[in-house]
Amino acid sequence: MCGIIGINSNRPVSSAIINSLKKLEYRGYDSAGIATLSDGTINEIKSEGRVDDLEKNSLIQTIQGSIGIGHVRWATHGLPNSVNAHPHSSQSVSVVHNGIIENSTLLKKFLVSKGHIFKSQTDTEVIVHLITENLKTLSIIDSIKKTLKALHGSFALGILFKDQPDLIVGARRGSPLAVGYGPNENYLGSDSYALKAMTNKITYLNDGEFCFIKKSNVEFFNEDGKKINKKVLELSNEEEKYEKGDYKHFMAKEIEEQPTTLKNGINEYLDTSNTDINIYNFPWKISEISSITLIGCGTAYHSCLMAKYWFEELTSLDVNIDIASEFRYRKKKLKNETLYVFVSQSGETADTYAALDLCNKNNMKTCAVVNVIESSIARESKFVLPIHCGTEIGVASTKAFLGQILILYILALKIGALKGDIEQKTFKQKIKDLKQLPNLVEQTLSIDHKIQTIANTFNDVKGSMFLGRGFSYPIAMEGALKLKELSYIHAEGYPAGEMKHGPLALIEEGLPVVVLAPRDNYYKKTISNMQEVIARGAKVLLITNKSKDEIVSENIWEKIEVETANEDLLPFLLTIPLQKLAYYSALNKGFDIDKPRNLAKSVTVE
Ligand code: AGP
Repeated sequence: MCGIIGINSNRPVSSAIINSLKKLEYRGYDSAGIATLSDGTINEIKSEGRVDDLEKNSLIQTIQGSIGIGHVRWATHGLPNSVNAHPHSSQSVSVVHNGIIENSTLLKKFLVSKGHIFKSQTDTEVIVHLITENLKTLSIIDSIKKTLKALHGSFALGILFKDQPDLIVGARRGSPLAVGYGPNENYLGSDSYALKAMTNKITYLNDGEFCFIKKSNVEFFNEDGKKINKKVLELSNEEEKYEKGDYKHFMAKEIEEQPTTLKNGINEYLDTSNTDINIYNFPWKISEISSITLIGCGTAYHSCLMAKYWFEELTSLDVNIDIASEFRYRKKKLKNETLYVFVSQSGETADTYAALDLCNKNNMKTCAVVNVIESSIARESKFVLPIHCGTEIGVASTKAFLGQILILYILALKIGALKGDIEQKTFKQKIKDLKQLPNLVEQTLSIDHKIQTIANTFNDVKGSMFLGRGFSYPIAMEGALKLKELSYIHAEGYPAGEMKHGPLALIEEGLPVVVLAPRDNYYKKTISNMQEVIARGAKVLLITNKSKDEIVSENIWEKIEVETANEDLLPFLLTIPLQKLAYYSALNKGFDIDKPRNLAKSVTVE
């Protein structure tokens, strides 16, 4: 998952490329590079690390050219260093690439036999040499066609040619790519977000298509090289300014913004009398749906796991959940009466997109729960439920998680009511309770100081466990993921009742174990499981909700109490201390909170 930008203009382009690359860093931040064309020379500058590091390179000030391409990388093949950074260039072409070329080893063998010399360890470099080889005998268009046909795997490409001062070629298979239109200049970008500062007029390439970007026009071709016409979409030209403000990190800000996320979602989907849920233009009759399959990756998968509990309780649907990278390759029977729901903050996650594509190709009922409404997953789903949480910059997802589970809860309630699986009285009461949620989250956010102190304990630990049952189990999984990705501590999320079947062997004196035991149906059972780990030396942080009843357990190390709500809503509140625990523990360790190592915000490779 890398970021691509291309600009063909009459003005010098290097600083505009650098600015766009900064916006694309959410796609990868281990190295960055730029190539421009001036006086028949390809000028290439690359650097390990962030776009800021590239900008500090003294040569960047001198790079000339009114046509150029740029790239931010998330390494797939080869170390994240400046040699493997894109663009990759031969004497005649320069290429930026997002995706994976699966037959690169074979192609490289062939190209080496033809005398091509490779400099990097990347799969991308084969594309450079293949085009160079094909250009020896073919026209530009034929060499592009031939090259693309030879590539297996996924790609979005930006290509610059030494002898073509007015041409950037864009091509797409699997990985998204957009074209933008400006005054006497045109652009190529991994997505419209990268282009928004320059234009709101966008065309998205479909799989297999490629395009010729000239200064004054753009031509589109299908995979056979036949010219095609494409629609120009006009996006809202409000460019959202999203700044850190007084916060040290975007993540800290995003955690605090969660009451607003919930208010936005509630205002969007609850009718003004607060007695019904509005889901407009749902394209299917509810009687046509007897099961639901929820699909996502990472935190979005945890949202699906959470939703499973609500859908099972509130509706009569058969509920399945799936990790997108597993779903897409399993041999399974897709069913007409199933609603396939794709959950994604970015809407660009390659595995989730591929799972959606599979369902669409089989003419299934597809619905997206996404944050970025201009994203590929939103555009290609038959129905979209936006989560409206605004830009999320922190790689560790926080407000998008609460936004996703809110919308999924609302969907479960609505389907339950439409199918008559829950009584109207219960439905209305749950809507009333839901209205209180933003305030309850707001109050829970104030438990801050205590979590900061507790987080100190996580400074030197080797590992940790997060346990919960029922509604709290998905939240335990999410808490463990947050701690892993931010503070690089091994953290295992587990159903508390499953511990005795193996993981109990991991418990030793002083191991921190976070136990989620709100006063719900599972409370007593979870407390028993907690006692089992305490008996084996675990240092237990108990997270529960406020109650008059005393906790019947001794030797708890620390206790945090969130606000009280109806059982369905407790997962929202339990999430808050876990997000903060991960945040403060990474802060103590001095790690890069908004850009944890090895990760990217948008995972556009499989
Ligand atoms: C969450 O903290 C992660 N960084 C990651 O698991 C993320 O949720 C996952 O990659 C899915 O992303 P998406 O929601 O944009 O599809």
